[in-house]
Amino acid sequence: MADESRLPALPGLEEARRLIGGASNIFVLTGAGISAESGVPTFRDAMTGLWEQFDPEELASEAAYRRQPALVWQWYQHRRELVAAVNPNPAHHALVALAAQKPVTLVTQNVDGLHQRAGSAGVIELHGNLFANKWLDGCGRCSEATALPGMPPRCNLCGALMRPGVVWFGEDLPRVARYRAEHVAQTCDLCLVVGTSGLVYPAAGLPGVARDHGAPVIVVNPQPSALDQTADIVLSAAAGACLPQLWPQPAPSAG
Ligand code: APR
Repeated sequence: MADESRLPALPGLEEARRLIGGASNIFVLTGAGISAESGVPTFRDAMTGLWEQFDPEELASEAAYRRQPALVWQWYQHRRELVAAVNPNPAHHALVALAAQKPVTLVTQNVDGLHQRAGSAGVIELHGNLFANKWLDGCGRCSEATALPGMPPRCNLCGALMRPGVVWFGEDLPRVARYRAEHVAQTCDLCLVVGTSGLVYPAAGLPGVARDHGAPVIVVNPQPSALDQTADIVLSAAAGACLPQLWPQPAPSAG
């Protein structure tokens, strides 16, 4: 049973529970805020120590990678280590529980892979994944070579570089992920938006698409966001405290 004492007077909570309970095809859009309680460092938070002197926008682009592949590769290795050291939080786990109860399509702007580590299946990653690699160019028959320490791997055959599998500044979203996300926004009967500022498009446009197609929109964010005006209900709360209150959670396992 939910612990009613944790969020006693959160405006909109009851109505949100009712809408979620009655929905049968839920579109969930998540952003960096859902990983905040796990301690995932933001772009800027990751600029510590050796990295303090750099601007993330100057590292996270194809031009930067072509200019200084070793530097950018090492920055991604650093971020991979930071993310690998944290764990999914109650908000990630709550979304796994929701998907066990009804059809849910989870679309994330995060590259940290925490939804998948919590156990969510079929996650649509709009901005790629920090732990994936892909070829920068390539001969079409690329195969990985052994990399020198601190250097990105190169193709054995043509010498092409591997690059992190994230969407960099100035790049388009992966086409299939974007198409699938737009489709679910158009066809869902409820849209739940968690932990995004709603400033980065095209992801930020998806809740509006859902709304235009008749789905109510619920926003969970402790701060005002650009999506508040699109929302039917704004729950001003941290995701890790709020989401487990919104639908039944599995009883903790004994032992
Ligand atoms: N629970 C819910 N929301 C939270 C929490 C929390 N505990 N803590 C912070 N937030 C909210 C903040 O109030 C903010 O509105 O999460 C939001 C995070 O906003 P951004 O940092 O702008 O992250 P996001 O919306 O995911 O950014 C989109 O921009 O930087 C690029 O590619 C990157 O995917 C990212 C994209």
